[in-house]
Amino acid sequence: MEYLDNRMTIPSRRTFAIISHPDAGKTTLTEKLLLEGGAIHLAGEVKARGANRRARSDWMKIEQQRGISVTSSVMTFERDGITFNLLDTPGHEDFSEDTYRTLTAVDSAVMVIDAAKGIEPQTRKLFEVCRLRNVPIITFVNKVDREGRDTFALLDEVADALALDVCPMSWPVGMGGTFEGIYDFAKNRLRQPSGPSKEFEGKEVFVEGIADDALAEHISAQGLEKLREEAELAVGGYADFDLAAYRHGDLTPVYFGSALKLFGVTELIDALAAHAPPPRAQPAEPAPVEPENSEVTGFIFKVQANMDPQHRDRIAFMRLCSGKFRRGMKLTPSGSGKPIAVHSPILFFAQDREIADEAFPGDIIGIPNHGTLRVGDTLSEKAGLRFTGLPNFAPEILRRVALKDPTKTKQLRKALDDLSEEGVIQVFYPEIGSSWVVGVVGQLQLDVLISRLEAEYKVAAGLEASPFDTARWISGDEAAVKELVSFNGANMARDRDGNLVFMAKSAWDVGYQQERHPKVKFSATKER
Ligand code: G4P
Repeated sequence: MEYLDNRMTIPSRRTFAIISHPDAGKTTLTEKLLLEGGAIHLAGEVKARGANRRARSDWMKIEQQRGISVTSSVMTFERDGITFNLLDTPGHEDFSEDTYRTLTAVDSAVMVIDAAKGIEPQTRKLFEVCRLRNVPIITFVNKVDREGRDTFALLDEVADALALDVCPMSWPVGMGGTFEGIYDFAKNRLRQPSGPSKEFEGKEVFVEGIADDALAEHISAQGLEKLREEAELAVGGYADFDLAAYRHGDLTPVYFGSALKLFGVTELIDALAAHAPPPRAQPAEPAPVEPENSEVTGFIFKVQANMDPQHRDRIAFMRLCSGKFRRGMKLTPSGSGKPIAVHSPILFFAQDREIADEAFPGDIIGIPNHGTLRVGDTLSEKAGLRFTGLPNFAPEILRRVALKDPTKTKQLRKALDDLSEEGVIQVFYPEIGSSWVVGVVGQLQLDVLISRLEAEYKVAAGLEASPFDTARWISGDEAAVKELVSFNGANMARDRDGNLVFMAKSAWDVGYQQERHPKVKFSATKER
């Protein structure tokens, strides 16, 4: 495969994520996508393997207890010459920050909606993140094998709640007890359940169109009448499919199916292959990076520690943005500025890991390291490039860390530095006094922190109320910043990188100080 270069592989890469509210069926759909993609042989393995993997490490017990996925992973599968990189996003609302970063590394997303529930809070939140970055969305209405809401009501809700044009690409013939199959408008194809379990087993019928009498041989008279009526209204009432509008994030094509029963899953894969964008230019300074560029570049969107408890390793997940990556090549991280040779890069096939000899734009590679790589780092052959748009968010919960054994101060500091590097927490070291403060966006991150401090660093610590409620990064006019500091010494802290931070008792306090110090910039996000 030596003849391949990045320009040849770009059209065949689809790097995407699934966004959904918990319970809509993301895990099931992921399993079935991998199954259809030939990456695993038995549906159910994602969960089983996931559970195995999770059982290995103490802090990951939280995931099991709460039945949520704290960590993101990467799954790669191939079908019909297309390589799909599926990035798993944590579904729990507490992890919006982590999820946000994962969504910076994809080119498109699949939004899974439960047919009985429609748009739920977490779907909406994740959708907003996608909109922020113009990530195009394919909608998959799941669970049509159960009673769901009226199809028009569902489509109208997507259109209204998300301010998107919707284009139904297929149509369910009934739902739940009256479900008789899915009609594909473009292909004029009816797919129907068959077999005792009513799982999809390949029964498909091609017809001339929705008016074709041949349909009567396959669908009940009642079902057919309803399908014709609805299809006419749907085709007339919703936008036509427009590739440019979809890729621009203005229109979402909608597919129907049942992940559990394996209906509509291949259609979804085909839709990703046909419509979802291949790797796109990525925002960077001094200029956006085109995937066709020959220089190898990428950025770290996730760092995960202790994936293998035997080795206490850290894996930094890098999205490759341009060039053809070769094993052993030297890349310079923007953080340390010291080149590293990437000898054992990892590619992710389902939950298996393989050493990667080469990788192309849109691919995700895992780089084992001992803490040199950080979330937000740009890696490139030449120094001087920086990918933008991977922010730190102002924490919404601040807590003082109380050490139970005072001789462990050094270990605690190391642990807090490490975990903030990973993006698990943010840490603030006050300029005055010695009580260190951690900041998170969601409560669950605090449980993860305490549990990991104990399991990985053997540090017993508790969390206490902090006098502060929020934090802002400080920049701007030097004299004005000095003045702010001189009046508010007790509120000033440094983050892990030594940046100056204003710790505030409330958002009101931030506003008040901003008014008094207009030349100081108080930022709720810090770009790394
Ligand atoms: P999530 O990752 O989005 O949280 O959802 P997950 O796939 O775990 O699915 C949530 C529940 O919905 C599961 O049932 C799953 O079996 C069910 N489900 C997923 N897709 C479909 C579908 O197309 N049709 C129907 N009828 N159900 C579906 P559970 O009882 O909570 O879990 P389990 O015991 O089946 O694992």
